[in-house]
Amino acid sequence: MKFIKFKNEIEASQYAANEIIDLIKKESKVQLGLATGSTPIKLYEILVKDHNENKTDWSKVETFNLDEYLGLPENHPQTYKVFMDHHLFSKVNINKSNTHFPEQNSINYDELIDSKKGIDLQILGIGTNGHIGFNEPGSELNSLTRVVNLTQETIKVNADKFFNGDTKDVPKQALSMGIKSILKAKKIILLAFGESKQDAIKKLKESIAFDINFPASALALHNDVTIVIDEKAGENIDL
Ligand code: F6R
Repeated sequence: MKFIKFKNEIEASQYAANEIIDLIKKESKVQLGLATGSTPIKLYEILVKDHNENKTDWSKVETFNLDEYLGLPENHPQTYKVFMDHHLFSKVNINKSNTHFPEQNSINYDELIDSKKGIDLQILGIGTNGHIGFNEPGSELNSLTRVVNLTQETIKVNADKFFNGDTKDVPKQALSMGIKSILKAKKIILLAFGESKQDAIKKLKESIAFDINFPASALALHNDVTIVIDEKAGENIDL
């Protein structure tokens, strides 16, 4: 794992955006793995700005989102489909039929990704408890896309960020790509910003083997992972 610390979230997001833009320009077809949550919002903003100013062509890009809540009505503002439409898909020239989310019969999601020759670049965030996707502590290393139960910690964090603090409005389950699904990506960039991610980043830095209680540790087993953080997330950590 390579760690890169930037002064702030904007510079860090610019780094990840450049990786995506370079890939889109270089390859005739690109498969991107995408995350939601607060962390990648600036990244998507930069990608939209680049599309408007430099006409980067998204028509050959296919996307696979990591996860989706279970139990929210289809057009609920907090579904990850609506989130992605709002922050990225409606603002670049991507073909909507090339955007994918895990569905209820999600057994097919990994097969779908494999049939498209896999994910070229996977963007990840990280939970304060070390989850990647919605692979909460206890997730197996060989897990594929499946229904997962969200922990109380994740429900609380997401309630505060996206559901006006009301934990009862946050779905208790989601569909998530598994840890094995994530590790199949050719290249992985994990973004983490702010003080609340300090402990998780410190633990990730110390990870040398998979620890089922800290799912992000699985990234130590992959050969092309870049952890992109801001100064706050990397405070007191020797990189
Ligand atoms: C979202 C996802 C999650 C988030 C994580 C961090 O698609 O897979 O793992 O990346 O919960 O969330 P934020 O970015 O809101 O801190």
